[in-house]
Amino acid sequence: MKSRVKATGIDKEHQEILLKVGQIPKHIAIIMDGNGRWAKKRGLPRIAGHHEGVNSVRDIVEVCGQLDVKYLTLFAFSKDNWSRPKKEVSLLMRLLLHAIRDERDKLHSNGVVLKTIGNISELPTAVQDELIEATEITKNNDGLILILALSYSGKSDITNAIKSISKKVADGKLDIEKIDDEIIKMNLSTKNYPDPDLLIRTSGEMRISNFLLWQIAYSEFYITNLLWPDFRRNALYQAIESFQSRERRFGMVSG
Ligand code: IPE
Ligand code: IPE
Ligand code: MG
Repeated sequence: MKSRVKATGIDKEHQEILLKVGQIPKHIAIIMDGNGRWAKKRGLPRIAGHHEGVNSVRDIVEVCGQLDVKYLTLFAFSKDNWSRPKKEVSLLMRLLLHAIRDERDKLHSNGVVLKTIGNISELPTAVQDELIEATEITKNNDGLILILALSYSGKSDITNAIKSISKKVADGKLDIEKIDDEIIKMNLSTKNYPDPDLLIRTSGEMRISNFLLWQIAYSEFYITNLLWPDFRRNALYQAIESFQSRERRFGMVSG
């Protein structure tokens, strides 16, 4: 069962070219940045940018499904974002709650599987409940796996992995000499997913901002000046086109 909303018209043409030219990244991760600046440019409150950003999420999720991208990880709220003004945080949480509630049925009928990474228990209970329901409803789908990074910190992910590995060593269940890349991977919150092939950041910032750290060892980076609310399907096609023009060497020499 593939995505049930098929592309049409110019969209279909764009997608067919991408599919013909090269590989579609199996896993795309996106740092969705620039909502505040988008709003500021229009003299609007920051939340208006977050609001418009949800429309970009909807568009990108739909197109990823059509292109048969297997995994899409979206950095929606970082652990460090809790330090923003209380008002912005509470409006963001409300927006998140409504977005999940409004989109859930459409995601489900499009075959999307919703997952989360990050410290979900720090989110308001009402948001947690929506997330639990949406992940439960969509869990047996076989389309795009959409992973929302919420209250996520790449450093915390690694710290937690170190704690659980240390515990196994202390309990005599794991030999120190057996610790390798695979064991570390299996103790991260992303253990069920392959590493991202393509990492996109919008709004032009050249930094990771505590998103995935371990997992991006060989991801291709694509940074665009577009602000997240302006990042729609055509911008994604461009990012994938750029990805397809790269030579991934993984430390080896040209083949
Ligand atoms: C990204 O947009 C959304 C979140 C971090 C929640 P920002 O809110 O960071 O927007 P800018 O970077 O201030 O423009
Ligand atoms: C990264 O953006 C977090 C998300 C997109 C959710 P930020 O706006 O929080 O990052 P900085 O502050 O520019 O590094
Ligand atoms: Mg930002």
